[in-house]
Amino acid sequence: MKQPEKIIKPTGKLLVLLPGMGAVATTFIAGCLLARKGLAQPIGSLTQLGTIRLGKRTDNRTPRIKDFAPLAELDQLEFAGWDLFPDTAYESAVNAEVLTAKHLEPIKDELDAIKPMKAVFYPEYVKRLHGTHVKSAPTKADMVEELRKDIREAIKAHGCDRAVAVWCGSTETYIEASDVHNTVAAFEQGLKDNHPGISASMIYAWACLKEGVPYANGAPNLSNDFNAAYELSKETGTPISGKDFKTGQTLMKTILAPGLKARMLGLQGWFSTNILGNRDGEVLDDPDNFKTKEVSKLGVLEHILQPDLYPELYGNVYHKVRINYYPPRGDAKEGWDNLDITGWLGYPMQIKVDFLCRDSILAAPIVLDLALFMDLAKRAKFRGIQEWLSFYFKSPITPEGLYPEHDLFIQSMKLKNTLRWMLGEELITHLGNEYYD
Ligand SMILES: NC(=O)c1ccc[n+]([C@@H]2O[C@H](COP(=O)([O-])OP(=O)(O)OC[C@H]3O[C@@H](n4cnc5c(N)ncnc54)[C@H](O)[C@@H]3O)[C@@H](O)[C@H]2O)c1
Repeated sequence: MKQPEKIIKPTGKLLVLLPGMGAVATTFIAGCLLARKGLAQPIGSLTQLGTIRLGKRTDNRTPRIKDFAPLAELDQLEFAGWDLFPDTAYESAVNAEVLTAKHLEPIKDELDAIKPMKAVFYPEYVKRLHGTHVKSAPTKADMVEELRKDIREAIKAHGCDRAVAVWCGSTETYIEASDVHNTVAAFEQGLKDNHPGISASMIYAWACLKEGVPYANGAPNLSNDFNAAYELSKETGTPISGKDFKTGQTLMKTILAPGLKARMLGLQGWFSTNILGNRDGEVLDDPDNFKTKEVSKLGVLEHILQPDLYPELYGNVYHKVRINYYPPRGDAKEGWDNLDITGWLGYPMQIKVDFLCRDSILAAPIVLDLALFMDLAKRAKFRGIQEWLSFYFKSPITPEGLYPEHDLFIQSMKLKNTLRWMLGEELITHLGNEYYD
């Protein structure tokens, strides 16, 4: 097996760049600021609270991940971003109504100091939003250059020596990769020609990759998920990952489905519906934007259940996903699931899940973990698609020819084994020696 490279130490400050400073981004920033003051716990974050077993069970070595892997500390983080509304992080967090005054007031000044840079925005990709805090430039190639300048200036202004980006912008309308997305040369030409198939999120991703800034995509739109971006990320030695944070309903799905499959219980249908009332819900109320999300949410079951291997159990699953915009709920989404399962001799049973979740509360720790792990990946000289971070995504990007791994438990094992490998520890197989003694 290839030997890992020596990891560069996380000295100095790390700038976390957030294209899109709405509910998720501001909840993430606020959480980091509160946690480092000791005013709240970073619950849900593997990097902050998770442990990793090393060696044999009898060795009793189970450090916290943050004490084992050389990750940037919360105190070393700085924050910057872009949005098409000029609200500061404080104003945006107040509008989002995720966190209460109890959590926002102690960090008001720090949040108020975070003012978004002007966005690159093409309204045809997000029809429900009409912002004014936007850049104008003759071509999409010029937009890339503007963003690159922003990145360099922000790194300098915040006294950082490196940066990492996590897309927290709105979900763009559904498109599939085409010729313009196929090679670096075609994409660069497309930027110059203002090709309509190049969306704003792709322009952010491209600018980051050009600057060697790792880029993770929290939304389901393509952004960095096309051949030209894979190629550029390898050329510039930059890690990429995505897409679509795995939070509420899909998190539940990838916890439950592997369990049903492990026990060889059958599935006839899985109906999922959501109500949510935040700005994300409003954007997803447009059918073209919902389509992007739907594709991302639907892929999960098929890959976990493998109907081709288990036709009698999963050969005919009816899977439906709905999202309904319902303003009174705000960010406190409700996700219902009805599972029609089958047991011994084909007898039917049902499972109902009613998850009263909080979207941004579930997404914020993912932003933190991705920022820290993507930065670690870069310092470990990893480049291209970071499949070991599939754990965090509904629709993990995978190299061509491979299917994505959706099972949360396999994803977790892959993540931890990658950390063990990176740091020269034995991989854990869970195979015991006791059978041979
Ligand atoms: N919260 C979750 O559980 C969750 C899970 C998976 C994915 N996501 C995705 O994460 C993203 C953020 O979610 P949110 O709840 O914070 O949404 P939000 O609407 O509160 O925030 C998105 C922000 O992005 C800005 N934006 C849109 N296009 C932009 C552009 N081109 N440049 C700069 N800013 C831009 C918007 O003005 C808005 O402020 C969405 O795409 C959502 O689908 C969220």
